[in-house]
Amino acid sequence: MLETSEISETSAQELPRGSVIGIMGGGQLGRMAAIAASRMGYSCHIFCPDPESPAAEVSKWHTCAAFDDVPALEAFAKSVDVITCEIEHVPADTLKCVAAFAPLHPGVRVFEICQDRVAEKTFLNEIGVATTTWLAITSPNQIQEAYENGWRAGILKTAFAGYDGKGQFRLDGKEHFQDAENIWAQLFGAGDAEGSAVLEEIVEFELEMSVVVARNAKGQIAAFDVVENIHKNHILAITHAPATISEENRAAAITIATKIADALNIQGVLAIEMFLTRVRRNPGQ
Ligand SMILES: Nc1ncnc2c1ncn2[C@@H]1O[C@H](COP(=O)(O)OP(=O)(O)O)[C@@H](O)[C@H]1O
Ligand SMILES: [Mg+2]
Repeated sequence: MLETSEISETSAQELPRGSVIGIMGGGQLGRMAAIAASRMGYSCHIFCPDPESPAAEVSKWHTCAAFDDVPALEAFAKSVDVITCEIEHVPADTLKCVAAFAPLHPGVRVFEICQDRVAEKTFLNEIGVATTTWLAITSPNQIQEAYENGWRAGILKTAFAGYDGKGQFRLDGKEHFQDAENIWAQLFGAGDAEGSAVLEEIVEFELEMSVVVARNAKGQIAAFDVVENIHKNHILAITHAPATISEENRAAAITIATKIADALNIQGVLAIEMFLTRVRRNPGQ
């Protein structure tokens, strides 16, 4: 791990040994977190609807219930010392429910931003972090309008619930923009389905990389090595650590991730995915 600020043993151990960490979601990331927590002297309580949860298998407790089961959520939240999530798609109402009984890190606002590509890009541009040029889209007509306004290609992504490239459609040329109704139906269902999406300009990137930063309650931050990601069919296939990038780009990537973690007031771990482009973009462009 690369130190970007000094983190003392005491600040790293603010949660007393023996504390119970509640984890919302029960997948592979939760499993790795629970194993790491166990080594640090904590025990974990998993909340997820899956009876065969990989995280629950290695944790002391498992509440197997739906994310809208309020009595189960309350009982879970009252039984733990602190709560976190292993996936970003836990519904905001669920998070608000548990946050009333135990500290939730990162907080509800962070999840509300990360779950919604419109909120996420708006937030990033507001704090001066560059993204590709993008439009918020709420109807097929707006896709046709984009064509009239000069868009000839782009990636249409559902604002919510996308992962591993799911909920995405690459628009390429007039036919696609004219076929907006059908593409919209593929993403959101047939009829006049309501939906929220973003249309992104395609980035001709040199490589894809990501940075994981950890930030504590005092605002001290440490960053893992910047890594290079190779996707196949939109799914992460290979990660090279460290990324083969210049020292300047490595430092710039960590600066961006740190800026985002600070602006979100993250307590916990945050991963930021980035494209390395040939030309540096200005914020909001
Ligand atoms: N604007 C873009 N330009 C070029 N490639 C893109 C763009 N958006 C997404 N991709 C490709 O699709 C992959 C998945 O997109 P991403 O926005 O990361 O979705 P997810 O939330 O499913 O991970 C990216 O890792 C990248 O390879
Ligand atoms: Mg991605």
